[in-house]
Amino acid sequence: MRRPFSKRSQAIPAFKAMAILAKANQMALGGRDIIHLEVGQPDFPVAEAIRAAGIEAIRAGQTGYSDANGLPALRAQISEHYRCVYGLDIQERRIILTAGASGALALVVALLTDPGDGWLLTDPGYPSNRRFVEAFSGIAQPCAVGPKERFQFSAKTVANAWQTNTVSLLLASPGNPTGTSLSSSALKAVAKVVEEKNGFLVSDEIYQGLEYGPTKRISALSVTNDAFVVNSFSKYFGMTGWRLGWVVAPDGAEAPLIRLAQNLTICPSVPAQYAALSAFDPSVLEQLDAQRDILAERRKLMLSCITETGLQVPVSPDGAFYLYAKLPEHFGSADDYCRDLLEQEGVAITPGTDFGDHDAQHYVRISYAQPRAVLQQALERMVRFRP
Ligand SMILES: Cc1ncc(COP(=O)(O)O)c(C=O)c1O
Repeated sequence: MRRPFSKRSQAIPAFKAMAILAKANQMALGGRDIIHLEVGQPDFPVAEAIRAAGIEAIRAGQTGYSDANGLPALRAQISEHYRCVYGLDIQERRIILTAGASGALALVVALLTDPGDGWLLTDPGYPSNRRFVEAFSGIAQPCAVGPKERFQFSAKTVANAWQTNTVSLLLASPGNPTGTSLSSSALKAVAKVVEEKNGFLVSDEIYQGLEYGPTKRISALSVTNDAFVVNSFSKYFGMTGWRLGWVVAPDGAEAPLIRLAQNLTICPSVPAQYAALSAFDPSVLEQLDAQRDILAERRKLMLSCITETGLQVPVSPDGAFYLYAKLPEHFGSADDYCRDLLEQEGVAITPGTDFGDHDAQHYVRISYAQPRAVLQQALERMVRFRP
């Protein structure tokens, strides 16, 4: 008999949003009309200029390896992006292109984690974070955050949660699944506690560019030069399947990160990097901002109609494209609600249990990255389904 696979791999549960997507796809194959509000993926087609640049790169045979940290021209464009959008001077050498934010997180966690080192993570938070930490023999130290804290870290939470083996804190602003952001002052206060503890601050900024409040993008790099910043072409740029993201490393961390990148992935996709060179064209950025405005309208629609379904959104999201909605007690558990909603009404959403343990059976995540008419239909079905 074949020996079992590693205990580490067996301990990793399925990513529920992906498992629900697979089930929903199966149901669609069987003829069911499914509305997908479970995956975190913008529905807009990738901008034509980006696609054309990708095709052109492949035609021109730009399909070999690049430097492990990516094409110099693209790193220069990202550096310029920090100058234009955030008013920050980020030298190109500090920018390392990766296989999505996922690749960036893997590199940063690998760099910062010795066996037994602790990582403070929000609960709820992006589910893969703790898998990255555990993959490198670190210890995930989830911190329960609720509506009172707008589902984000505060300086007080961090100071209280920091343990003797804690080395790093990973935050996301705007966050997944809640879409809430940290203000500049809150970010500064968190960064200060991490510095006092002599720890590492990692800021996942994958949803930046998709903000709907009066405050625009706030990078951890605006409050400290010492943060590791993770970003991606997946969300604002809508290039999920191209698998391209980046890390901004603090001074001195770039060389060891590049060494890890050389060994773990060699380099990110080269056609995707050539395509992304067009992502910062003014006309593309204009289109992306128009798409953000469409998402803002959908957010408004969802927030104004969600109570008819019986669900409540305790904290209005100010970014990303999710509602983190609370189920009333009599709706039962989030797992059961999501299963029954999919089976009976063909609406796929994700239970809070995908994102942690804290009050997770009382929450669901709804992605509104779908056309308005689809969202209206989903809401109608959810009202009909209301227990
Ligand atoms: C908070 C957060 N970080 C990282 C990722 C990974 O994104 P990607 O690898 O597609 O860039 C996601 C994807 O949904 C996310 O929500």
